[in-house]
Amino acid sequence: EAAPKKSGAASFKPDYDAVRKAVEDLLESNEDYDDGSYGPVLVRLAWHTSGTFDKNTNTGGSNGATMRFLPESNWGANAGLAVARDLLEPVKQKYPWISYSDLWTLAGATAIEAMGGPHIPWRPGRSDYAPQNFVALPDGRLPDGDKDAKHVRDIFYRMGFNDQEIVALCGAHTLGRCHDDRSGFVGPWTNAPTTFSNLYFVELTENKWHKKKWKGPLQYEDKSGQLMMLNTDMWLLWDKKFKPYVQQYAKDEEAFFKDFAAAFSKLLELGVPFPEGSAAASPTPNK
Ligand code: HEM
Repeated sequence: EAAPKKSGAASFKPDYDAVRKAVEDLLESNEDYDDGSYGPVLVRLAWHTSGTFDKNTNTGGSNGATMRFLPESNWGANAGLAVARDLLEPVKQKYPWISYSDLWTLAGATAIEAMGGPHIPWRPGRSDYAPQNFVALPDGRLPDGDKDAKHVRDIFYRMGFNDQEIVALCGAHTLGRCHDDRSGFVGPWTNAPTTFSNLYFVELTENKWHKKKWKGPLQYEDKSGQLMMLNTDMWLLWDKKFKPYVQQYAKDEEAFFKDFAAAFSKLLELGVPFPEGSAAASPTPNK
């Protein structure tokens, strides 16, 4: 007969649900911040910490949490993400056993679900590089909003994504907004920027978009002047191969949720050296 397990340090089990709960408690902790939720900026942190991956050199990705360090913390593309990193710092202090790289990706997955999105399969296993042990990545691995479909493909094919996954991932712009003091662009993509839905694709296909007349960078706006699209968002509609997915997701939110969950989960795992034989994604819901 098996002896009952002894309790103590040897049987320490990290409580990821407690971390999730701590993140959920932070989401709407400051009603004066943006649209009343830190959810969108946490999703952006998870994406930018992962989206540096290059499949050809197997460098970048969320493992290591290199955005803690210069120069990555100071890249133009990462402007504003100190808000998200600082927000999570007390969670890291309370649960010091979790790596920053697991925490940042788990926070993004948690935020998507808490804002009404699909379950994002997530598993732990990332470790943080010590400041002296990492090789700084070159700037330019994340996409620029004023560029075209070729740029978008160059960036996302480098990570290992296909056209369908690219369109699904960009549906995250249903959340949050652009800030002139971060990216130089302004405004939200939808009128419900704290709810995860397919509204971004509905707006893209059903609203009318024209160039915004202003001194700022190239962006598009609708007739009300309230909603915006980046040039890269417009190219999802203009490109013959991207467009069918945009149209599908505008009509079929269930298909979008399913494809987004798979692609976002894949994004968070790019380049992470999980132990061999461990599942590609957690089979049980995270909740
Ligand atoms: C915000 C560009 C893809 C999630 C932004 C902003 C820009 C941008 C310029 C505004 C930042 C600011 O001023 O605060 C792009 C480009 C993409 C892309 C050019 C690809 C062509 C993605 C992907 C995701 C994502 C794949 C996630 C899966 C977000 C979120 C925000 C955001 C949630 C809102 C952040 C906030 O409200 O603070 N993006 N993005 N983006 N992006 Fe993207």
